Amino acid sequence: MLTVLDILPPVREATYPKDDVLPVAPKSVYTIERETPADVVARERLLDIAMGPDRRKKSSEKLRRNRVPAEGLAFVARDENGQLIGTVRLWDVHAGITPKGAPLPALLLGPLAVDSAYEGRGVGGALMRTAVMEAKRLGHGAVLLVGDAPYYERFGFFADKTETLMMPGPFQRDRFLALELIDGWLQGASGMLTAAGIKLSRTPLRKAA
Ligand SMILES: CC(C)(COP(=O)(O)OP(=O)(O)OC[C@H]1O[C@@H](n2cnc3c(N)ncnc32)[C@H](O)[C@@H]1OP(=O)(O)O)[C@@H](O)C(=O)NCCC(=O)NCCS
Repeated sequence: MLTVLDILPPVREATYPKDDVLPVAPKSVYTIERETPADVVARERLLDIAMGPDRRKKSSEKLRRNRVPAEGLAFVARDENGQLIGTVRLWDVHAGITPKGAPLPALLLGPLAVDSAYEGRGVGGALMRTAVMEAKRLGHGAVLLVGDAPYYERFGFFADKTETLMMPGPFQRDRFLALELIDGWLQGASGMLTAAGIKLSRTPLRKAA
C-alpha cells in the first residue's frame, strides 16, 4: 500500500529559531505520516488537551460521530522519536445538494491540532498541506471546515464558498470555510452538510460458551 511518504516529498523540515537568534541547532524535526490504529490513544489525548472538554459538542462532531475518516485521509505528525505531536483528519460528507438535487460529495476537515510544545514551527501547516494535496490527488472536489479564517485562509479556505451551505447545528458563518479542489465544485450547492462516511462497525458481543 502506498504511504504518504511514497506520494509526497517527505516532510522532514528542520525549523530554526527566529531570524534574530542564531540557528545554533534545529529546534525540531518532524514527519507527516498516515495515522495508524496504534495512534488512537495519543491522538485522543492530544485532542482533549488542545481542544478542551467541549470538543465533542461541536456541530462538526455530528458529521464525524460513529464514522470512520475518509479513506487514506487521516494524518499525524511525529517528532524525531516517533511520538505523535499533531493530527488532522478528513471526513466524507455531502455538502448539501446540487442544483439538480443530487447530494454533493465533499470532505470536512478537522480537528487539526498540534502539541503546544511544537506550535509555531510549521507542523500545522505541514499537516494541512499534506491533507489538501492528498485529497486532491484522490480526486475529491472540495474541503470544508469550521475554524479561524485568519489561520486557514493561507491554505486557500474562504467563507464565500459556503454562503449557501449550513452546518447541522450552531456555527459562525465567518468561520465556515471551504476550498475547492476542482474549480466550481461548490457552485450552486445549497443546504445542510450531512454525514456520508462509512459507519463504525459495532462488533456484536460473543455469547459466552
Ligand atoms: C492552530 C494550530 C493547529 C496551529 O498549529 P501550528 O503548528 O502552530 O501552525 P503553524 O506553525 O503551521 O503556523 C503558525 C502560524 O499560524 C498562526 N496561527 C496559529 N493559530 C492561529 C489562529 N487561530 N488564527 C490565526 N493565526 C494563527 C501563528 O500565529 C503563526 O503565524 P506566523 O507564521 O505568522 O508566525 C495549533 O495552534 C493548535 O493545535 N491549536 C489548538 C487547537 C486548534 O485551535 N485547532 C484549530 C481549530 S480551528
